[in-house]
Amino acid sequence: MSAPLRTGARFVTLEGGEGAGKSTVLAALRGAFEDAGIDAVYTREPGGTPLAEQIRGLMLDTHHEPAAPETELLLAFAARAQHVRATIAPALARGRWVISDRFTDASYAYQGAGRGLDLHFIAELERRVVGLRPALTLLLDVPVDVGLARARGRGAADRIESERNDFFERVRHAYRERAAAEPERFAVIDAGQPAEAVAQQAVARLRALIARTPAAGAQA
Ligand SMILES: Nc1ncnc2c1ncn2[C@@H]1O[C@H](COP(=O)(O)OP(=O)(O)OP(=O)(O)O)[C@@H](O)[C@H]1O
Ligand SMILES: [Mg+2]
Repeated sequence: MSAPLRTGARFVTLEGGEGAGKSTVLAALRGAFEDAGIDAVYTREPGGTPLAEQIRGLMLDTHHEPAAPETELLLAFAARAQHVRATIAPALARGRWVISDRFTDASYAYQGAGRGLDLHFIAELERRVVGLRPALTLLLDVPVDVGLARARGRGAADRIESERNDFFERVRHAYRERAAAEPERFAVIDAGQPAEAVAQQAVARLRALIARTPAAGAQA
């Protein structure tokens, strides 16, 4: 057996379907950190390092043949392995806050529920390859058609955005189930509300976490 997952006390992730508003909320969280005088690291998945960003390009490119589900899963975890080791863990070790636009929950939702891959295999990859989970995950929950309309308003669809609606329904359902199973880690936000209301609720959750997290260096 591999070691259990460590929780990063200053590690926060954003999850949700296409066009849920993750990038919009990330900008609001950045504002909240800056107001608090906290110099956080802002990152995203797939990606977050030069190598992992190249893997992201492979995953989203529509010019080559479709990736097999297993290929997509392993590319996601290859990128995440690098992201954790090169970006997230070193920053957390220095006492910095890290906010990631998507993380491992996305693999359970997209490659697990969406592509139908074995959740136990994903859990094993999470333990062996990632080993880390966030203290807080903000799940932006929005009906699939609302999110897709927002995302598609931005231009050409990438590989994932070109999926069918039932794929995204499975993704949404999986995210909600994960949130229900881990209520102490997840905060579910109704992302169908106006962007200002969504941002305000996300910032309130972040501030509550900051308030209950000991200052860097104050822990044993
Ligand atoms: N609550 C909201 N209400 C209406 N429009 C919104 C809301 N939040 C974001 N938007 C708009 O919807 C679009 C998608 O938002 P955003 O890029 O933040 O979503 P995302 O979750 O990051 O999408 P992706 O999964 O594609 O990265 C943007 O044009 C954004 O301005
Ligand atoms: Mg985004």
